[in-house]
Amino acid sequence: MKDISFSDEAGKALAALKEGAFLTAGDSSKSNVMTIAWGSIGFIWGKPMFTVLVRPSRFTHRFMEEGSEFTVSVPVGSMKEALALCGSKSGRDTDKVKAAGLTLQAGKKVATPVVAGCGVYYECRTVYKYELTPGRLDKGLEEACYKNGDYHTVYVGEIVAAYTE
Ligand SMILES: Cc1cc2nc3c(=O)[nH]c(=O)nc-3n(C[C@H](O)[C@H](O)[C@H](O)COP(=O)(O)O)c2cc1C
Repeated sequence: MKDISFSDEAGKALAALKEGAFLTAGDSSKSNVMTIAWGSIGFIWGKPMFTVLVRPSRFTHRFMEEGSEFTVSVPVGSMKEALALCGSKSGRDTDKVKAAGLTLQAGKKVATPVVAGCGVYYECRTVYKYELTPGRLDKGLEEACYKNGDYHTVYVGEIVAAYTE
């Protein structure tokens, strides 16, 4: 594992994020992995941040609420099948790590593990969260993304470690 600055692989990571990345929340005893495709890497409050959006209906939401750490593991090679599984099954009733043949690896600076074999990793500590407020988003986007409610909670995580393998 090679430590990097948060911005070193940001272009590559954001391009890959569009195809999906693994968001993990929880700790070494109990965690959950889900696929995300929306997120951003930025610099706020004088620190590097990774922002992710999680709908309250996701099992992962509970882990994000109960803990204050999460990791984003970005596959730079193809992990299409595992991303599809972790983006369609819920940890409520499926052991997704086992079903997708994934291996969790201990985080370096946080208790939340990362998904081994991905290539680029961000470990984060939630420093701010907010729920999207109905009526405030661009109407077209709101219609496209929130017809059924389930407005995302947005988690802004300080990137406390970033590394590649
Ligand atoms: C490519 C892809 C991207 C996704 N991105 C997000 C996302 O950014 N936020 C979100 O809440 N759900 C997203 N999902 C849906 C969740 O991954 C999916 O509902 C998952 O089954 C939730 O698992 P959980 O119930 O174990 O948390 C995405 C799904 C796919 C396939």
